[in-house]
Amino acid sequence: MKTEIKKLRTELERHNRLYHIENTPEITDREFDLMLRKLGELEKQSSEPIDPNSPTQRIGGEPIDGFKTVPHAAPMMSLGNKFNEEEVFAYAEKHGGPFILEPKIDGISISVRYENGNFTQALTRGDGERGDDVSANIKTISSLPLRLQTANPPRLFEVRGEVYMTRNGFTALNKKRQEAGQEQFANPRNACAGSMKKLDPREVAKRPLDIIFYATGKLDGIEFATHRELLNTLNAFGFKTATTSPTCTTSSDLWKNIEKLDKMRDEFDYEIDGAVIKIDDRTRYTELGGTAKFPHWATAYKYPPEQAETRLKDITIQIGRTGVLTPVAELEPVQLAGTTVKRATLHNDDEIQRKDIRIGDRVLVEKAGEIIPAIVRVITKKRTGSEQPFNMQTACEAIGINPIKNEGEVAWRIDDLHHPAMLKRWITHFASRNGMEIDGLGESNVERLVDAELVKSPADLYTLEKTQLLALEGFKEKKAAKLIAGIEQSKTRSFDRIIYALGIRHVGSGSARILAAQFPTIGTLTSADIQTLEKIRDIGPIVGNSIVEFFQASENKTLIEQLQAAGINLQQAANGSDELAGQTFVITGTMKTLSRNEAGERIRERGGAVSSSVSKKTDYVVAGEKAGSKRTKAEALGITILNETAFLKLIQTDSTHPKQKEPANQTELF
Ligand code: IVH
Repeated sequence: MKTEIKKLRTELERHNRLYHIENTPEITDREFDLMLRKLGELEKQSSEPIDPNSPTQRIGGEPIDGFKTVPHAAPMMSLGNKFNEEEVFAYAEKHGGPFILEPKIDGISISVRYENGNFTQALTRGDGERGDDVSANIKTISSLPLRLQTANPPRLFEVRGEVYMTRNGFTALNKKRQEAGQEQFANPRNACAGSMKKLDPREVAKRPLDIIFYATGKLDGIEFATHRELLNTLNAFGFKTATTSPTCTTSSDLWKNIEKLDKMRDEFDYEIDGAVIKIDDRTRYTELGGTAKFPHWATAYKYPPEQAETRLKDITIQIGRTGVLTPVAELEPVQLAGTTVKRATLHNDDEIQRKDIRIGDRVLVEKAGEIIPAIVRVITKKRTGSEQPFNMQTACEAIGINPIKNEGEVAWRIDDLHHPAMLKRWITHFASRNGMEIDGLGESNVERLVDAELVKSPADLYTLEKTQLLALEGFKEKKAAKLIAGIEQSKTRSFDRIIYALGIRHVGSGSARILAAQFPTIGTLTSADIQTLEKIRDIGPIVGNSIVEFFQASENKTLIEQLQAAGINLQQAANGSDELAGQTFVITGTMKTLSRNEAGERIRERGGAVSSSVSKKTDYVVAGEKAGSKRTKAEALGITILNETAFLKLIQTDSTHPKQKEPANQTELF
């Protein structure tokens, strides 16, 4: 078993490297996860203690109380700054090349220590002399090797790099925080810094972080003649380095590459705030010397942030799905970093007050590599006196919204779930793909139904009649029939999807699945108390409270009763299985023993999908009596046709397998 464990670890390390460093994975993520699981199982069975640097040990145990401050073996210096072409030339001429140019990653610098090839510690920069021990957090970053990929590791290898949050990951994280009423991070760097400060590595593991290396700390048993040699060795040992690092021999070559790098910045999955110029010849470093704060062997050129001046025409209010109100700056269109900017986020009311932003102001907008343009400041000297201060309360009231602010939250939210704007969001969410998946009920139809006051809560959908739809503009016979059928079909969606569709704050698809598994009927869920809920892994007190609050509201009690009365499936299928997963059925004609809806329910309980039209993607057509064109089409396409007896047989033999539960910790991304 010991050799098997060792073999698996080495294999996993190799695949990790292929995936993260070389971008040439040989196996799928799933295969990787299965291998990792297998290793975990073997380690559990083995009598040997588990190696803390095993690939299974990235996400450590319990949260810690605080970070230990530890001295750096070699001080962590900073870099001098160059702000223009002249300064770059002066540096280059003074010291001479060749140089290596690297992107200056806008993250958090980290020093990682390996002893005899094994990861032992990761420290933040701190004051340069002493940093915080963030080992448990850094270990969760999957591209970081926990063992150096070499047969002859040096005694001591300290490497320095930058932890950053990926740009896409940052956008997704902020979106999620906005929905949850939490303060949004201003930029990926702040989000990354916030992640590093977390005391629970399991939380850090959910954050989209990565790390790129570019320098050394203390070394023992290894040396490098050039920076290029260091970069190559870093890659060989399994570290990620910047995707571009051109060698530049002359000053003008250097400047050309600085400009080129600036143009390339959108291609990186991290933000850069400059370029780092490094002298390639490491044997000169001691002689080059430096100041108390920074060495002369490297320097940073800072790109000017891209800014533009424009007028703030108005501040509008955006309503999020869960009712979070975000003020948005409506700008006079202006060119910025290659795009026309018309809107900028104002994050929240506090920010508007802090920056004293008034409607009508001339403002400076900035896109310092950031994804969403932001207002840097007001050009106060251009004020005419006609500018209007903004007040969230009055602005909301003007559009018929009663805003509230919960204690401890920065965000304002709408108090009234039945406000048309909110209601539209709610119904759209209810009908969405991960929710009740109501065919034919997209945003525009929701708008029509809410504006006509036909729908005041999701339950009203189930009492809609075709004649009511036909009276609306834009609805003809076919469209109305499709919507009614779509609504009817949605009644058999699985219980977890209903829970998600209800739109309970903080309850996403993942939590909904966990809840459905723990509380198999609506009655048990609505009466669950906070003590029970907060103990469930991945639910916790915040989500728990919002569930309790939701089901305590009298209007929601009515909603549940109405949904129940409408015949909606409000319990977990008792004998669900996933036997029909990935199979698409079309049901047509009449059957003797069950209705089309019931047949659909049986299929979905077993993980299958039901579609209303026959296509090449259909796997089975269940044809009852008087099956018409659908059957003919299925025959033409050569699709398997099941009569009632064959269908019953199919679902009977499949119903014995209990549905596999997903492990709770894999259901949600963040
Ligand atoms: S080399 C002596 N290379 O910028 C310091 N630093 O403003 C050697 N940074 O503290 C650092 N990208 O956190 C280096 N490619 C890069 C970098 C980089 C970002 C950060 C680093 C440093 C700060 C200095």
